Amino acid sequence: MSRIAYVDGRYVPLGEPAIAIQDRGYQFADGVYEVIPVLGGRLVDAPRHLRRLERSLGELRIPAPLSGGALSVVMAEVLRRNRVRDGLLYLQISRGVARREHPFPARARPVLVVTARPGPGFPEDLDAWAVAAITHPDQRWARCDIKSIALLPNVLARQAAREAGAYEAILLDGAGMVTEGAASTVWVVDAAGVLRTRPLDWAILPGCTREALLACLAESNLAFAERAVSVEELRTAREIFLTSATSYVRPVIRLDGAPVGEGKVGPVARALHALLRRALVGEEAG
Ligand SMILES: Cc1ncc(COP(=O)(O)O)c(C=O)c1O
Repeated sequence: MSRIAYVDGRYVPLGEPAIAIQDRGYQFADGVYEVIPVLGGRLVDAPRHLRRLERSLGELRIPAPLSGGALSVVMAEVLRRNRVRDGLLYLQISRGVARREHPFPARARPVLVVTARPGPGFPEDLDAWAVAAITHPDQRWARCDIKSIALLPNVLARQAAREAGAYEAILLDGAGMVTEGAASTVWVVDAAGVLRTRPLDWAILPGCTREALLACLAESNLAFAERAVSVEELRTAREIFLTSATSYVRPVIRLDGAPVGEGKVGPVARALHALLRRALVGEEAG
């Protein structure tokens, strides 16, 4: 079955050329995107993701391409045409097509692309889901709170991870503090047993999974602090784990080739994975 994309008002085979050469997404990476998990044929936490999309668009002064109602219809249709039960839905919006000049064009109309692809579903076996990570300098711009399609530093960091036999690159700013993963939020259980993640600022994306997990934490009695983590604290952490729409809760059991804590999935990652499953999948899956 060939995959189908929604591109600026049309449903087209994914392999077919459908984007204009002068699209500003292609020319300048002038656009934003969003990724929504799909479980059992349903979008997970869609309002949260669509709120973030609206914010990203607002920060870049790109108008919304469709009303909320029309967008919901398109997303459902893309899932249906691609028969995605478990997987991911991608939304990408560029500022539009115009003669190549850096300032905003006077009359461009935003171009929306929606795609969906099957994926593994909610991970039930957390041990099998655990990964290795490396540390890597954060070489991105100063507005990482915007989910921009300009991902070259993230691509290079993830490639460095792959070449080191790891899954994720944990990014460090110039002061040796963890910002986030190349495509995930980073959490640690520090040497004192406190669960920590960086407070939101322009250096990180406000993760939707992070927000969902923070809501879950309110029901737990885990010691938690929203406080940035230094590279030294990362290296002495009892546990490290990542969250994202594609990873849910993903334990990191090796960092730069050395074991994290005891080198296996820790109790806090396990507890949060269970809480997130309850929040996103519901009781019946437990
Ligand atoms: C740079 C970055 N940080 C954090 C995240 C996690 O965000 P979310 O939980 O909304 O997927 C992502 C997700 O792709 C990301 O790319």
